[in-house]
Amino acid sequence: MALHTPRKINSSPYLPFGDKQDAPFYGKDILSVKQFSRADIDYIFGVAREMEEMVRRIGSFDLLKGKILANLFYESSTRTFSSFTSAMERLGGSVIPINEVRYSSVSKGESLPDTVRSLESYADVIVLRHPEMGSAELAAKYARKPIINAGDGMGEHPTQALLDLFTIMQEMRHIDGLTVTMVGDLKYGRTVHSLARLLALYDVRLNYVSPDILKMPAHILEEVKQHNIPQAEFNCLDDVIAQSDALYVTRVQKERFEDLDQYEGVKNAFVITPETMESAKEEMIVMHPLPRVGEIRMEVDDDPRAAYFRQVEYGLYVRMALLAMVLGKA
Ligand code: NCD
Repeated sequence: MALHTPRKINSSPYLPFGDKQDAPFYGKDILSVKQFSRADIDYIFGVAREMEEMVRRIGSFDLLKGKILANLFYESSTRTFSSFTSAMERLGGSVIPINEVRYSSVSKGESLPDTVRSLESYADVIVLRHPEMGSAELAAKYARKPIINAGDGMGEHPTQALLDLFTIMQEMRHIDGLTVTMVGDLKYGRTVHSLARLLALYDVRLNYVSPDILKMPAHILEEVKQHNIPQAEFNCLDDVIAQSDALYVTRVQKERFEDLDQYEGVKNAFVITPETMESAKEEMIVMHPLPRVGEIRMEVDDDPRAAYFRQVEYGLYVRMALLAMVLGKA
């Protein structure tokens, strides 16, 4: 396909006045965690901590005053959608919310490239969630303004992985040396695909616990292996809970199953209960990208090791940092 416009804002005449052109990530897309180095992550986390401090002290401020975010969601979302909205508004910017694509021209059959090329006339950055793998990359090929991938089918969810890693860092104070156990739907769950890739930059040990039909895809195991990270697969959580420093629980992704009987067979394969927590380390944290649909019993919520609602809050600071960075203000 011939693409006529090689156009990210830092290489185009559309440079908005007053942006810091030399800021890291200025004008860049965020499509996959593969684009980040450890130094990048340190930088993002530094900005996220500053955002946390500012939100605690003053709530909202005008760093992105006048900037507009288009939140373009073709799949349902509660946290990702509203955390990007909150992040933008706490930074003084505003948001075009498109989460009911059935009320937009998408329902008339408009293509993704046309939708993003139109939205970027109104907005400075586009956050995109779409059911197809590779959709964020496709949008980025056509867009001049930065595209942030908020989940592309069973592909990646890079901003979630950054906030997951930030959660581990804030809660455990370090990442090197930790054992992280991922449990649930490792096949369709895009958050674990991104998180495994990101953790592979550190000196960690990864355990994967899933039903046989929901194992971590081979290409991700292979990528992680290239970083010499020890990885092991299990069918039973009891085998690994005691050695885990972070337990990352995921929902079985019903919407990605072609055969719903197969979903019924695995949907309750792993459920975290107060009894499960008895075998876990005192310092372990339990994480979940949410929504949970039964994988973690509500009785676990009162356990101080349950970090999933704190994780939601860390997400706000990470997304504020990313927006400020791609818009040249951090
Ligand atoms: C996740 C997603 O959409 O991939 N949710 C989220 O963004 N926090 C996880 C899920 O839907 O299971």
